[in-house]
Amino acid sequence: MSDSYLTITVFRDERELAKSLADRLAADLARQPRQVLGLATGRTPVRLYHELGTLRAKGRADFSHVVTFNLDEFWGVSPRDPGSYRAFMDEHLFRRVEIRPEQINFLRGDAPDADQECARYDAAIASAGGIDIQLLGIGTNGHIGFNEPARELAARTHRVRLKESTRRSNAALFDGDVSRVPAEALSMGMGSILRARHIVLIATGKSKARCVQQLVNGPITTKLPASFLQLHASVEIFLDTAAAAGIAS
Ligand code: F6R
Repeated sequence: MSDSYLTITVFRDERELAKSLADRLAADLARQPRQVLGLATGRTPVRLYHELGTLRAKGRADFSHVVTFNLDEFWGVSPRDPGSYRAFMDEHLFRRVEIRPEQINFLRGDAPDADQECARYDAAIASAGGIDIQLLGIGTNGHIGFNEPARELAARTHRVRLKESTRRSNAALFDGDVSRVPAEALSMGMGSILRARHIVLIATGKSKARCVQQLVNGPITTKLPASFLQLHASVEIFLDTAAAAGIAS
């Protein structure tokens, strides 16, 4: 399915989506082994990451020349904290595809100075040559990365205050205790995301149907940060049938 701005593919279920996208990414890597990948955490990409691990184990995906940049990290959290996004990525992807630590770029939630850390990260993305493929999930409120709905959106990597709904959806990383979820995070900005050469957004489940419908058919607005993807020339949206419910023809 496609409309004038975004290419949309709908899969029967999450499993089919993950398998198809993993095969596609493995084929991209076979064609161009040195890729800079922008990565997301959250529930949505977990199956994809595990599929990539399976392909790696079968010798069908080679990550040895890949460089990664994750979108975001909790502020005040060390990478060794089991609740950190870094720990999440180690568990679900990095170990499985045998990415070496020197290939991994991550925002440090325990950096001494947030502004300097954000500037360091933007410079690191630039010196890696920019992001080739940016993988995104979407929050039920339309956030991408931790660019939450607001009157203004930051262009660059920045420190952000998390919405209560976002903290609640991350509680599982902190033993289900929402009070332990940090109130702030560091996140790539909308400009950093939109500078990626290609963007792949995944959404699954009926809780995402409304924001996907707004992303695809609605106006471009800071009230739905994902709507800015309509401005990008190369965006693919991978959905399961539940997330596509609002746009299905
Ligand atoms: C995580 C991130 C977030 C998530 C979004 C969806 O790195 O950038 O924007 O992609 O909150 O989260 P899930 O997949 O848990 O529904």
